[in-house]
Amino acid sequence: MTALFSEFKLKDVVLRNRIAIPPMCQYSAQDGYTTQWHESHYAGMARGGAGLVIVEATAVSPEGRITPGCTGLWEDGQIGGMANIARAIKAAGAVPGIQIGHAGRKASARRPWDGDDHIPDGEKDAWQTLAPSAIAFGANLPKVPKAMSIDDIQRVKADFVATAKRALAAGFEWLELHFAHGYLAQSFFSPQANQRTDQYGGSAENRGRFLLETLAAVREVWPENLPLTARFGVVEFDGNDEQHLAESIALVKAFKAAGLDMLNVSMGFSTTQGNVPWGPAFMVPVAEKVGHETGLPVATGWCLDDAKTVETVLNEGKIDLAMIGRAHLANPHYPVQMASELGIEKPAQFVLPVQYGYWLSRYAGPGKGSAQ
Ligand SMILES: Cc1cc2nc3c(=O)[nH]c(=O)nc-3n(C[C@H](O)[C@H](O)[C@H](O)COP(=O)(O)O)c2cc1C
Repeated sequence: MTALFSEFKLKDVVLRNRIAIPPMCQYSAQDGYTTQWHESHYAGMARGGAGLVIVEATAVSPEGRITPGCTGLWEDGQIGGMANIARAIKAAGAVPGIQIGHAGRKASARRPWDGDDHIPDGEKDAWQTLAPSAIAFGANLPKVPKAMSIDDIQRVKADFVATAKRALAAGFEWLELHFAHGYLAQSFFSPQANQRTDQYGGSAENRGRFLLETLAAVREVWPENLPLTARFGVVEFDGNDEQHLAESIALVKAFKAAGLDMLNVSMGFSTTQGNVPWGPAFMVPVAEKVGHETGLPVATGWCLDDAKTVETVLNEGKIDLAMIGRAHLANPHYPVQMASELGIEKPAQFVLPVQYGYWLSRYAGPGKGSAQ
């Protein structure tokens, strides 16, 4: 058996293979409520054969949405739509996961295809953004956020906890806290974004406090037998990577002690000064180091979708799970292609539900495409 198509067990959850679909916003919600688009999209993703499907960044409060089209779980009425999605993912044989988060100073933006920039104050759909300090991200996101009071911090932590409970009620079995990509949690950790002088700013330990307290509070309500994971930006690629990575690894060790089961290793995106070394599998050495030094299972992604490369890095034990995003948007049955490239016999039958796999494995010939 290939490493890619071997099972992965974390707590009481077993993934049928090492392919995970990372959270990918669809910007298609209405007031945080999922729509028909989400139900068919996620069902299609799961039918393609991945072991884990993580539903997009879902806001813990209305002001925590990146855009007006982002999903939320800040009220009980939003559970029903999410439950339909979780059920559809599970029915297709994948494990239903969800990412929950707060967009912080990057919130109140237009959908990417409408410009991706901040919606100016006073315009319809604009709202006040929150952050550790009143410092704008810059570039296309110029709004100056409100520096959070201690009451705001306590309220957002409580929002994470309440949202985690709703995610559980909706049937999700894998929870990912969004601590990455320059959103609220990541910006607490960033010395550029966080210039507080209280216990939530200053030293690396203080800058990590919001993340750690949020994680610990969520762990209390998220069942011990189900995976609690986080996506965290451990590097910014801003020239200060050695120190940043060392501080990140120290914080991830504290996450582990607080009950984190796995880390989805990513980038910080906290600054406009980052210079990301885009290229095939470029995050794997970073993820490997984090896994090695913390002893936590690790996932990573970003340009990590070549079947043979993924197979090799899994086999070498560098990562435990591959997050494969855009390749699934291009081809929701992408795991069939990966199985084929790894030499698995009758890959469609091997990977897909019988309703598709049976036919694609039975006939070959003109008009049947990659039937085998
Ligand atoms: C449409 C789209 C939406 C995304 N939304 C999220 C998100 O909600 N949360 C997140 O952590 N990353 C998000 N990402 C980043 C992806 O999870 C992933 O890291 C990225 O696409 C790189 O992986 P890939 O090269 O396999 O596509 C998004 C990416 C895309 C293309």
